[in-house]
Amino acid sequence: MADTSTEAQLAFKAAMRRFTSTICLITTELNGVRHGMAATAVQSVTADPPTVLVCINQSASVNQPLKISGKFAVNMLHLSHADLVPLFSGQLKGEERFHYGEWLSLDGMPVLSDAQAAFVCKLKDVVHVGTHDVVLGEVLEARFIESIAPLLYENGQLVRSSSISGSAA
Ligand SMILES: Cc1cc2nc3c(=O)[nH]c(=O)nc-3n(C[C@H](O)[C@H](O)[C@H](O)COP(=O)(O)O)c2cc1C
Repeated sequence: MADTSTEAQLAFKAAMRRFTSTICLITTELNGVRHGMAATAVQSVTADPPTVLVCINQSASVNQPLKISGKFAVNMLHLSHADLVPLFSGQLKGEERFHYGEWLSLDGMPVLSDAQAAFVCKLKDVVHVGTHDVVLGEVLEARFIESIAPLLYENGQLVRSSSISGSAA
């Protein structure tokens, strides 16, 4: 299919391919059915009160259930979760996505037991911007594992991080 993007949109997309971010799985549960998708548009907003934001396409299958349930989880992926990314971005649908990975229920939300970090959130606000919803969530519970090896996305590929030798933050 021909790309109908304007020149400004093409430049925006090409520039954003230079933005490296950790891949997360955004999940929710409504009436006993789990929904989830891969996302990189995830950010910390403030620690007081602990708040995150996630940008979710209005057409994504997780969008409506998340807004109706009023709760969601952000599962920050570890390098060991690379296989889950295609499954949670279209290869599988609905509950089938959760047949892979070790899932537990935390505050009623689906959480990967070995997520690098996971946040269970209460939906606080939704701002519509073009095709997407900017979803703000107040963190009810945060957990993490010791190993820090984030699964990153850069230039359309899965990549890993490495430290710059001799550097100290
Ligand atoms: C690495 C990666 C990052 C993504 N980030 C986002 C995102 O931040 N927001 C979003 O709405 N979709 C994002 N997507 C696309 C969704 O994962 C994908 O469109 C969605 O799972 C498909 O919708 P469905 O659940 O209706 O099948 C991303 C996909 C990939 C592979």
